[in-house]
Amino acid sequence: MKETGNTQSATDVSGAGTGSLKQAGHPLYVRITHWINAIAILVMIGSGWQIYNAAPLFSFTFPKEITLGGWLAGALLWHFAALWVLVTNGLVYLTLGLVTGRLRAKLLPIRPAEVVHDLGAALKGRLSHDDLTRYNAVQKLLYVGILLTGVVIVASGFAVWKPVQLRALAAVLGGYEGARLVHFFAMAAIVLFLIVHVVMAVLVPKSLRAMIRGR
Ligand code: HEM
Ligand code: HEM
Repeated sequence: MKETGNTQSATDVSGAGTGSLKQAGHPLYVRITHWINAIAILVMIGSGWQIYNAAPLFSFTFPKEITLGGWLAGALLWHFAALWVLVTNGLVYLTLGLVTGRLRAKLLPIRPAEVVHDLGAALKGRLSHDDLTRYNAVQKLLYVGILLTGVVIVASGFAVWKPVQLRALAAVLGGYEGARLVHFFAMAAIVLFLIVHVVMAVLVPKSLRAMIRGR
């Protein structure tokens, strides 16, 4: 089992032949939609924090320096502008991923035993990152989890935006107040994911390059 170093994948991405899914790097549409999504999410978080500050749910507020929009109305403009970028981009990614079968091939199945095994290996620094285009079980779990969180934050966002028109949706989420809490905790989950995700992208050699250049 290789350590994290991966001279092999640099020169021999299609190499060793562990099945047909191995060769190609991240397709262009995945890279484009990933980075559009990253920007849109950062705008949603920054403007969301500013909206939160106008009427805090809890006993804290976010430092103004890390919020976006300047004041409530400005933040709402940012939030609603980036919302359409986020949703359109997400639909392109999901549609292409489902139609091509890529999503399923990359992210499923997720077996609990493998998650436990890979998490243990990762913590001991013994997880192979030789083939950056094949995700380990922890990655699969986190990626599927974050995609579902995306659905939750969009649904709860629409519910707090139009609680009257979208009454049924709001009701499922516990009414306006419930949807607001769901929206907040989905944001918190995304921020946690993002911290771990960015740290891993920096730590695992060449993974960032692969998400930019394909391999
Ligand atoms: C990554 C995506 C998103 C993030 C990180 C995010 C984050 C936030 C945060 C932190 C707040 C402040 C919470 C509060 O004080 O209640 C907020 C408020 C809000 N968000 Fe989002 N949001 C996202 C997506 C959306 C979407 C897709 C919509 C759809 C319309 C939306 C609509 C709203 C609305 C209407 C509010 C004001 C809620 C209120 O009146 O308290 N958000 N968002
Ligand atoms: C802004 C900083 C970000 C950086 C530096 C970053 C970096 C990366 C890298 C290097 C990969 C390659 C896959 C890997 O080796 O695991 C990746 C994949 C991925 N990232 Fe990010 N990312 C960022 C933001 C985000 C955000 C905000 C989300 C979602 C909320 C996200 C969701 C994903 C998903 C779902 C994948 C797998 C994509 C696929 O193969 O279909 N990333 N990211």
